[in-house]
Amino acid sequence: MISNHTIESITKRRSIRSYKPEQISEEELNTLLEAGRYAPSAANQQPWHFTVLQNKDIMQKIKQDLKEHFKSSGSVRFQQLASDEIFNPFHNAPTAIIVSGSEKALMPQADCAAALQNMLIAAEAIGLGSCWVNIVIHLFNGEKGDFWGSELGIPVGYKPMYSATFGYKALTNMPAPPRKEGCINFVR
Ligand SMILES: Cc1cc2nc3c(=O)[nH]c(=O)nc-3n(C[C@H](O)[C@H](O)[C@H](O)COP(=O)(O)O)c2cc1C
Repeated sequence: MISNHTIESITKRRSIRSYKPEQISEEELNTLLEAGRYAPSAANQQPWHFTVLQNKDIMQKIKQDLKEHFKSSGSVRFQQLASDEIFNPFHNAPTAIIVSGSEKALMPQADCAAALQNMLIAAEAIGLGSCWVNIVIHLFNGEKGDFWGSELGIPVGYKPMYSATFGYKALTNMPAPPRKEGCINFVR
């Protein structure tokens, strides 16, 4: 395999669930957002909106409301999470970014996933930890979903689709989970 900085950022990126408390710099944040904005999108619609969360009190309130939503979800898995004292969807990361997609776009889910993945790889490339944390998105399916959409400034007509946490890694050198074999065939 050819090795360069980009390929190493892809293969070395791990989901980081333990962060240092320090906030990332504005330059690092802007680098992540630019990486997201440069993702490919169907028909070049760029149908995304990025919401940067860096307010501890708001992240704490989101955690509480998510727990409340999970308690009444009817899902055993989610109810267990809601009763877990140490459950934190943000893993105590100082920054989270929610990517919302325009409901009018052709393929907003694919576009927003591409944007999020770009940000995860960019994070690794500049020495930050990250984790795709889609559990946060359940917040918008709950009773308070509309409240949170407006509270967080998500534009009308945009649906929160994916989210990720970012920060300085408190854990490093995590091994990659083994890769599944047999997922490639060649026609040539
Ligand atoms: C669509 C999606 C949703 C995910 N949601 C969560 C989540 O809510 N919480 C979490 O801790 N990790 C979440 N992850 C991270 C996965 O658990 C992780 O990518 C997987 O275990 C492989 O580990 P790696 O990212 O270190 O290669 C999610 C990943 C994807 C792609």
